[in-house]
Amino acid sequence: MNHEEAKARVAQLTEKLERWTYEYYVLDNPSVSDAEFDRHMNELILLEQQYPDLRSKNSPTQRVGGQVLDSFKKIPHKRLMLSLGNAYNEDDMRDFDRKIREILHKDVVDYMGEVKIDGLGMSLVYDQGELQYCVTRGDGVMGEDVTSNVITIPSIPLHVKEKRPFEVRGEVYMPKASLEKLNRAREEAGEPLFANARNAAAGSIRQLDSAVARSRGLDAYWYYLVNARELGQTIHSNSLDFLDGLGFRTNPERRRLHGIEEALAYIEEYTEKREKLGYDIDGLVFKVDDLSEYEKIGYTAKTPKWAIAYKFPPMEVSTKLIDIVLTVGRTGRITPNAVLEPVRVQGSLVQRATLNNEDFIKDKGLMIGDTVILRKAADVIPEVVRPVISMRDGTQTPFHMSENCPECGQPLTRVQGLHYCLNEECPSRKIEAMIHFSSRDAMDIDGMGSAVVEELFAEGFIHDIPDLYHIHEHVAEIKALDGWSDKSISSLCEAIEKSKEKSLERLLFGLGIKEVGLKTAKILARRYRQLDDFLSLDADELQKIDDIGPIVAKSIVAYFQDEKNREMIERLRQNGVNFAYLGTDTVDVNNFFYGKTVVLTGTLTRYSRDEMTNILEGIGAKCSGSVSKKTDVVIAGPGAGSKLEKAQQLGILVIDEEEALAHLSTLRQ
Ligand code: IVH
Repeated sequence: MNHEEAKARVAQLTEKLERWTYEYYVLDNPSVSDAEFDRHMNELILLEQQYPDLRSKNSPTQRVGGQVLDSFKKIPHKRLMLSLGNAYNEDDMRDFDRKIREILHKDVVDYMGEVKIDGLGMSLVYDQGELQYCVTRGDGVMGEDVTSNVITIPSIPLHVKEKRPFEVRGEVYMPKASLEKLNRAREEAGEPLFANARNAAAGSIRQLDSAVARSRGLDAYWYYLVNARELGQTIHSNSLDFLDGLGFRTNPERRRLHGIEEALAYIEEYTEKREKLGYDIDGLVFKVDDLSEYEKIGYTAKTPKWAIAYKFPPMEVSTKLIDIVLTVGRTGRITPNAVLEPVRVQGSLVQRATLNNEDFIKDKGLMIGDTVILRKAADVIPEVVRPVISMRDGTQTPFHMSENCPECGQPLTRVQGLHYCLNEECPSRKIEAMIHFSSRDAMDIDGMGSAVVEELFAEGFIHDIPDLYHIHEHVAEIKALDGWSDKSISSLCEAIEKSKEKSLERLLFGLGIKEVGLKTAKILARRYRQLDDFLSLDADELQKIDDIGPIVAKSIVAYFQDEKNREMIERLRQNGVNFAYLGTDTVDVNNFFYGKTVVLTGTLTRYSRDEMTNILEGIGAKCSGSVSKKTDVVIAGPGAGSKLEKAQQLGILVIDEEEALAHLSTLRQ
């Protein structure tokens, strides 16, 4: 066969294999036998080996998996990948409907009802009829390029007849049957089980070896055509039919609903049906069907207002409370935890639940050995609701709070109903502090999870946070430990090195200052911009900041006045850890407002002034209260007075709310 003939044959085989894959995996209606399929696939593999230039990126042979990556590339989303607001009951749903009817001046609105699959949000980008790449949701602004894994899902089209560029979003998920099979195999191999389908799907998509991802039996449904209007679509439900026609797997449970009453009936129907589906759903999604109304209805900072996720109520099950054990947190707080007989609740395997504190256990009257009622919603931590008194048989024993730390044995101190181990040398506290410092939202040191911290602590290589930056001095010793390789230790060292460049808010959060969560850390970092500024702060000054109350302020000041903490900060400085606010980590630097100083004046209608300030600061603008030469843009609403005048005198760009929203909407769809 010459090159020309081979080329024609490759095209023919590709077309056939794609068509058969579609028939089998999307239509569930195969027209050829497996043997026939394999014969064609093998022929294509051989031809591509013979003529490597004929192997395209989107060849069906590439679905087989086998590409092994070092890491995933980060890709910015072309349009923000938003999440959805939640509704928990009929009232919330009626509110949602009422607001939309008010905006649209309509008595009845048509919605699309869809199931909300509990998986992993994913975006596929196509151009010229070819899949370009697949990207995870990430933080909504940036995702990870997981193409090599996603294309192993056979139902995903690699080629489509639509040649114009488009982006389609949906959910990659693990069907119940795949999860059961996977967990059975893991159990036999003595490996830890996946708690639920979502974790299992996420874990599979994050596999660097695409052959492993392929073996996990994932599938996907597609529910949103991002640039539908550009492609001439005016109605969301029609755009799903359009996707269907292009070969995408769309969910058959979807339904067009005329008005809120039909939406509520759909909820009732699926509250029953959900158990019978082959995949876990944690709710239903309702979207206004008329795409031309979306801009008018608008967006909040993170969610569209034209859609809502209805979440199913939490489910209750009973199980046995085997024991109550104490854990020590990074602040020394002691938490009692329920050890439960493993039980499945709403798709998750639960075997532990926090019991908060001694009074919680007393108030509920829990005894060790009790049968207890457990409640869990898909995105909520499991909660022990009450004991079943009628199930007591005399073997139950009361719980007594220990007087000593379970880790270091020091006497505990009780403060406002909570127990603390105040021993700063308590190993548990030190370990928890390092785990927290390394965690994803803090310094994001990949590979420095709880097991590694515990191991390196036990081996004596690390004692406190600054020691993390000396791990490279122990490479040879660590390599000698079980389960470590050149590669794992060098990627850990790399991750540690990378963490030195993180922005201030992550460091502030990572230090584990009492009362300072991620949100407060962000506010503080944006306000002060340098860790050194915190060393001389007083509580009065801090309290002037919105959102910072007296308790938080006191805790921050106490932390930075503590000599031991100041020493630790000095050691971090010596190790080259960045102390400055960089403020660019998740922001699209191409947005109109990025780096600009903005002043808001007059009345805003879509957002309150606080909301608008938050949105603008969130995308890298600085908001200021007064107009000066440094001001770049003034957003003026009706009733604007002296600030507007001053801006005009200084020749500063003035825009109205609508224009501001237009700049924001280029960020989202
Ligand atoms: S629409 C702007 N539809 O739920 C469009 N999302 O809680 C936003 N999800 O991030 C998404 N099923 O990952 C939509 N039928 C469905 C969905 C769905 C599951 C996920 C999605 C989203 C999350 C929001």
